[in-house]
Formats: sequence, C-alpha cells, structure tokens
Amino acid sequence: MERRVSGDIAFVCGRWPLDEQKSTLVFIHGAGETSLLWHALVEGLGDRANTVALDLPGHGCSGGAARQTVQDYAAVVVDFASAIAAPRPIPCGLSMGGAITQQLLIDQPARFAAGVIVSSGARLRVLPSILETIAADMRAYVAMIDRMGFSAKTPAPVKRPFLEDSLRAAPAVVHGDFKACDRFDAMARLGAIRAPVLIVSAEDDRLTPPKYGLFLEKSIPGAVHRRIPDAGHFVPLERPQEVDAAIRDFLDANAL
Ligand code: COA
Repeated sequence: MERRVSGDIAFVCGRWPLDEQKSTLVFIHGAGETSLLWHALVEGLGDRANTVALDLPGHGCSGGAARQTVQDYAAVVVDFASAIAAPRPIPCGLSMGGAITQQLLIDQPARFAAGVIVSSGARLRVLPSILETIAADMRAYVAMIDRMGFSAKTPAPVKRPFLEDSLRAAPAVVHGDFKACDRFDAMARLGAIRAPVLIVSAEDDRLTPPKYGLFLEKSIPGAVHRRIPDAGHFVPLERPQEVDAAIRDFLDANAL
C-alpha cells in the first residue's frame, strides 16, 4: 500500500500508477474518520481493481477545511477522482461515506457507473446525545462509538487503532460531519439510480441498523444486499474478508 497526496487530499492506494484497464474503487470513510477504516480492503482488493482511499478535507493527513454537507463532500470526491484520473471510478463509502456514494450515484450517473454502500442509510438522523458528547468530551464520544459501533464479538485489538485514530480528530470536524449526516435525506430520490449497487449491512450495527440496508435494497432498482453476521457498524475493520468477498462478487457479476 502506498501513501500519496493530490492537492489537499492525502490518500492510500493499492498500486500507483493506476491501471487503465481496471475500475477504481474509491473508498470514502465516515464521520470524523480517516482512510484507516479501509486499509485492509485497499490491500486485499488491489489485485482485482485499482483501490484508493482518501482522507476527506480536514481529516487525517489531508489539508483544507472539512465540509458541512454531504453534497459538498460529494463534490470533493468528484474533484479527487478527476485529479488522480481514476479509470471508471466506483465510490464505496461507509455511513457518511455511504451517503456521499448515494449522492454521487443520484447526481453524477455519467461519471460513476456503480457504487457500494456500506453501513449506511437513505436518511441518517443522529442521536442528540452523540452531538452533545462530541462537543463536551471527545474521550466519552470515542467510548460511545466503541459501545455502539462494534459488535460485542469484535476483539479489542481489532478496534484499538481505529479508536485511537478517532480520538485524534478535531471535535469541530466530527461535529460538522454528524450534522451533515443529520441533514442528509435521499429517501425520495433513490429510485432514480440506474447503476449497479451493492449494499453491505452488518447484523450487529446499532448506528445504522439493518433496517436501513433493507430500505436501500427495496428503493434502489436492482440493488444487491449482503448482510454480514457478527459485525457492527465498522464491518470493514471487523470482517474485512467478508466485505472483500462481497465486493469481489459484485465486480465480477457486473463485469466491472
Ligand atoms: N432507512 C429506513 N428507515 C429509516 C431510516 C433509514 N435510513 N432512517 C429512519 N428510518 C425510520 C425509523 O426507523 C423510524 O421508523 P419507525 O417510526 O417505524 O420507528 C422512522 O423512519 C423515523 O426515524 P428518524 O427519522 O430517524 O427519526 P426519529 O425521531 O424516530 O429517531 C434517532 C431519531 C436519532 C433516535 C434515530 O434516527 C436513531 O436511533 N438513529 C441511529 C443512531 C445514530 O445516531 N446513528 C448515527 C448515524 S450517522
């Protein structure tokens, strides 16, 4: 895995330069997170596709200012995919990243020919206690994310690097991201999507419960839904091999 920078945006990739013959999975993290969420998939799927995972502006190693809406983050991804000349980009996002993926599939059908939506929903209302805790005490917020975001079956060493990474985020950035989620609502627009879509939900997810995945499945024409047991919201960290296999099957089934 290689670390690179394009303008303000830091990203990791499975190979560089990108292979013109392959599609490019563009992995997008969720609220207050970084590309760390996707490292196993960037490595694991690197033989099947170009794989890149960015830090959104104001997150991780990227410069620039964090955005306040899902639409503005979607514009960042459009610019990033153009800047790195990503062949056939396929957005693959978790939670807020999944909202960004929906936005791209709805607004930019000519640019993004397929998408993967992981642990997300068409509406992402946020518990007021999450917003209040971010503002008051980041350690308490990270403890909350640990409690609500992972399956009880996931061992501590799997969670630790991610939780430490989450603690390094600027509270204002995390708060702004969750507010962006809270305002997001694509429920009435999903029927317009014509691209192949893979939905991945995890059965122990308490932040975006499997019900949200079912709604996406019913609303997006032709969408495929994979439900992964013994995993929570952060399924790419908890069950990377299952997510890898689901994405691989999806790429193969759609000749992507
Ligand atoms: N897909 C399908 N159904 C959804 C949905 C989605 N993305 N989002 C909400 N709904 C459903 C709810 O389940 C609820 O159905 P019900 O009336 O049958 O119980 C209904 O739509 C209204 O829900 P919501 O818009 O979320 O408002 P609310 O006032 O009922 O609940 C919260 C607000 C914050 C308590 C709730 O959204 C929640 O528990 N969220 C999950 C925790 C969280 O903060 N996650 C972070 C996401 S980034």
